[in-house]
Amino acid sequence: MKAIKLIQPKEVVMVDLEKPVPAEGEALIRIITAGICGSDIGAFRGTNKLVSYPRVIGHELAGVIEAIPEDNPKGFKVGDKVIVDPYLYCGKCYPCSIGRTNCCTSLHVLGVHVDGGMADYFCHPADMLVKMPEDMSWTDAAMVEPLTISLHGIHRGGLKAGEYCVIIGAGPIGILAGMAAEAYGAHAIMIDLVPERLEFAKSVGIEYTIHSGEENAEARVNEITGGVMAQLVMECSGANAAIRSALDLVCHAGRITLTGWPKNETPLPTDAITRKEVDIRGARTSAGEFEEAMELVYTGKVDVKRILTKVVSMEDAPDTIIDIEQNPGDYMKVVVNVAEDNK
Ligand SMILES: NC(=O)c1ccc[n+]([C@@H]2O[C@H](COP(=O)([O-])OP(=O)(O)OC[C@H]3O[C@@H](n4cnc5c(N)ncnc54)[C@H](O)[C@@H]3O)[C@@H](O)[C@H]2O)c1
Ligand SMILES: [Zn+2]
Ligand SMILES: [Zn+2]
Repeated sequence: MKAIKLIQPKEVVMVDLEKPVPAEGEALIRIITAGICGSDIGAFRGTNKLVSYPRVIGHELAGVIEAIPEDNPKGFKVGDKVIVDPYLYCGKCYPCSIGRTNCCTSLHVLGVHVDGGMADYFCHPADMLVKMPEDMSWTDAAMVEPLTISLHGIHRGGLKAGEYCVIIGAGPIGILAGMAAEAYGAHAIMIDLVPERLEFAKSVGIEYTIHSGEENAEARVNEITGGVMAQLVMECSGANAAIRSALDLVCHAGRITLTGWPKNETPLPTDAITRKEVDIRGARTSAGEFEEAMELVYTGKVDVKRILTKVVSMEDAPDTIIDIEQNPGDYMKVVVNVAEDNK
């Protein structure tokens, strides 16, 4: 079978591998579509310290069940269309015991710690699949996983209708967070340094945009919110300066969620956290959020088609990954058509 593999940093190829055989409790899935994620690009670039090589990439996966244990917990059958919940957890550690499986002390993410599924076939625990509606688009299905990341930030931040939600970083994660915030009835305010990304945010229905390189973001948020500032600030850039600025943009008694992965430490004026009594929460991957994300995508409440840059074949995936790494501004989301029968 075909698979997309990183041999080492900066070397990505399509390889021929043996079709995998499911272990006990696993399903065999014929993969139809696989999204290319920023983390796949980070793995290609060699900047994600969690990735070991060689590594098959891909964790944004949709496909058809080809084999599954008959007594599987969710009652799946051969032929069912599913997406993959790609965060493998131990089920035994403290965070797992309280249902925070995304914080598992030995979390294994596909394409990072273990091989991913950008391949013709993939084996995965039968209880970590999520059923797709029969008539859902395969391309949309591959974009459900990144939406779960954004939704997790929204849930960790307790976003409510009517609130102002600043999102820093208009990449796929921030854009999806903005679209989801609007779907929740909140007012999204997107901040970035790249004008094209802010234009894009506007085009997908985000109410307010701020170019923080040219405008004073604090003054603009003050103006937009009538002096209150933002009830929730979602940090989706990973830039140290952006993390620091969240404390200036959040309101008194407000919340901040940190989804972006900074490469270095960020010094923070903790007196502002005390003075404003701010809740700051990490947001890592997602837990129990696939069904809601699927529903938002399927109903079009979050129209993920609008963030799709293009669909490429398996043959073109390696060159596309190389190009995304070199020209990130040209891309928002790319989905790989793994199976040629995806119409
Ligand atoms: N917590 C998780 O589980 C999780 C999952 C996926 C991605 N991430 C992280 O989320 C972040 C966003 O992911 P993405 O794929 O959308 O990335 P991306 O690189 O496509 O987008 C980041 C955006 O932030 C903007 N930016 C950079 N510095 C800025 C600054 N100082 N102020 C304002 N904007 C700034 C960039 O212009 C870009 O548009 C990354 O840090 C990524 O590692 C975290
Ligand atoms: Zn992803
Ligand atoms: Zn665990």
